[in-house]
Amino acid sequence: MPNLSFEQIKDKFDRCVIGNYARNQVAFVHGEGSHVWDSAGDRYVDLMPGWGTTTIGHCHPHVVSAIQRQAGRLMHIDNSFYNIPQGVLAEHLSGRSFGGKCFFCNSGSEAIETSLKLSRLWGEKKGRFEIVTMNESFHGRTFGAISATGQEKYHRGYLPLLPGIKHVPFNDLDALKKTVGPNTCAVLMEPVQGEGGINVAGVEYMKAVRKFCDEQEILLIFDEVQTGVGRTCEWFGYQNYGIEPDIMVLAKALGGGFPVGAVVAEPEVSSFLAPGTHAATFGGNPLACAAAIAVLEVIEKENLLEEGRMVSQVTFERLEQMARKYNIIRQVRGMGLMIGIELEVNGKDIFEYCLQNKLRINCTQNNVLRLLPALNVPIDVLHAGLDVLESGIQKGGGAQI
Ligand SMILES: Cc1ncc(COP(=O)(O)O)c(C=O)c1O
Repeated sequence: MPNLSFEQIKDKFDRCVIGNYARNQVAFVHGEGSHVWDSAGDRYVDLMPGWGTTTIGHCHPHVVSAIQRQAGRLMHIDNSFYNIPQGVLAEHLSGRSFGGKCFFCNSGSEAIETSLKLSRLWGEKKGRFEIVTMNESFHGRTFGAISATGQEKYHRGYLPLLPGIKHVPFNDLDALKKTVGPNTCAVLMEPVQGEGGINVAGVEYMKAVRKFCDEQEILLIFDEVQTGVGRTCEWFGYQNYGIEPDIMVLAKALGGGFPVGAVVAEPEVSSFLAPGTHAATFGGNPLACAAAIAVLEVIEKENLLEEGRMVSQVTFERLEQMARKYNIIRQVRGMGLMIGIELEVNGKDIFEYCLQNKLRINCTQNNVLRLLPALNVPIDVLHAGLDVLESGIQKGGGAQI
């Protein structure tokens, strides 16, 4: 790839790339661990790697060499044949979760679509087709996924949406009970809402939802696109709750930056995806699966769930200290390394201050700063990032209490 200046890169985007993203005025060219470098050679601390995809840091050498090896062996083979990496990855996911069977695709939205289609196939004979999802949820950008997403701003301009989807308030069992009816086939929810502002489902609520779905004989689907593969310092977010879903949806961290999506479904439910019902040309492609296997191996061999718990504790302690110090912090919340800092003010200025001072974070729902650091971010790098964040909060109007 040629070395280009930011202006040269931007010029290509301005002329040839559709402008559907509000891009910051930086181009990144290199990443290593919890650091990324821009086109001018400046180094940034990355506490929001790839919108939560690189939970083991950028360009982990084990993942890089697994991709290189597989690329030289067999990059792609279609799903009318078997291949080794897809089988091995499915075994890893099944064994680490609830013994389900896997379908592979390329993104979170596509995996959500699969889970919606699977629930409809499962419910068809009983005449059940309705899917209940949560307000403030985020499930992706395809038509089924935006229909499932409980935020009106993502629906604008796209009406009519997919019929048969109802939304209820999150963490509200009574509302769910009132909405589920004889036509309902599934409840879809994130254990921790990410884009919706880091809203954590309560333990009792989750257990009651599971019990209620069992009583009603409907499927419980967990969208673990953001919470899955170590993000909450368990393999999957639901493992913090002592219950299991019938269907789990994965993407983001699964490929460590390589595009991979997956649906894991309880074996009896999975049988409804019979030949001819659903497919993805690239799904379960050997290269993508080799990357995902390498990610899981790194998390296991380097004991990263344990390391993540330690990083999480250090991060929460530091942020809670800040919350005691600065009056614009309303609440610090989250689970594992999925962390939100809710502000009294819009977070845009703090976000921009951080970026100018070489720290990558995110701001969602206007006033929630979101951190999704790598499980293995070194503590000194973490503190360097949090030092920038703290001065951003101070400058953003956070008067000392
Ligand atoms: C919980 C959740 N579900 C689904 C998606 C959609 O994933 P993708 O952007 O890979 O389609 C996202 C993306 O942010 C997500 O956070």
